Amino acid sequence: MSLLEAKKALGKKAASLVGNGMIVGLGSGSTAECFIASLIDRVQNEGLSIQTVSSSRRSAELAEKGGLTVADINDIPRIDLTVDGADEIDPLKRMIKGGGGAHLREKILASASTELVIIVDESKWVPSVGRGKLPVEVLFYGSPATRMKIEQLGYKGHWRLTSDGSIFITDNGNLIFDVEFDAPPHLPEQVNEDLIHIPGVLETGFFFNLAGRVFTGYADGRVELSKGK
Ligand code: A5P
Repeated sequence: MSLLEAKKALGKKAASLVGNGMIVGLGSGSTAECFIASLIDRVQNEGLSIQTVSSSRRSAELAEKGGLTVADINDIPRIDLTVDGADEIDPLKRMIKGGGGAHLREKILASASTELVIIVDESKWVPSVGRGKLPVEVLFYGSPATRMKIEQLGYKGHWRLTSDGSIFITDNGNLIFDVEFDAPPHLPEQVNEDLIHIPGVLETGFFFNLAGRVFTGYADGRVELSKGK
């Protein structure tokens, strides 16, 4: 069984948690997209009646194409359940997100939700977050000065580019500075504190104390509720 099959199984499991009448937050990324596909299937074939709100334009387009109702987040103060993927998750359920550059909106949905359900394949588990890069959304206005402040604190990194080499712009019209660590930081919470107070830094990809149930998908097709490892 492939990674894609594991993601599909995760999407199906997460979609089974959605009940009639719920307001559902849609995450972003390839795993969240499998959830959206399963949700569309339930709405089309089981008559499930829900409203959704989306963390990205891309997820909203997929949802709308499948016939889901995507509400304006500014009309929705509270979400019942959000389902999203992650780039990294550790045994304390600390996560890094933003591989797709959607972490600012994802965090707004997560914190507005009664529960954030995380769906990850087994490759996303790490002993401690910070194995890969940390996406930081930076306001376009004054971004060189903001970058200098980040670097003065000792954090190295680069502006994210698209596959054609142009500068990556988020759905919010901002930049992503991808911080690179030599090794996972001992205190990710301190790194977050350092960065989040710099004017112009809008959000880091660290997600602490936000994950509810975490489901892990394995290459053999199993999906497990993970308590942390
Ligand atoms: C999007 O910005 C991210 O936070 C995604 O949730 C994360 O990158 C996981 O994506 P995949 O499911 O594609 O690995």
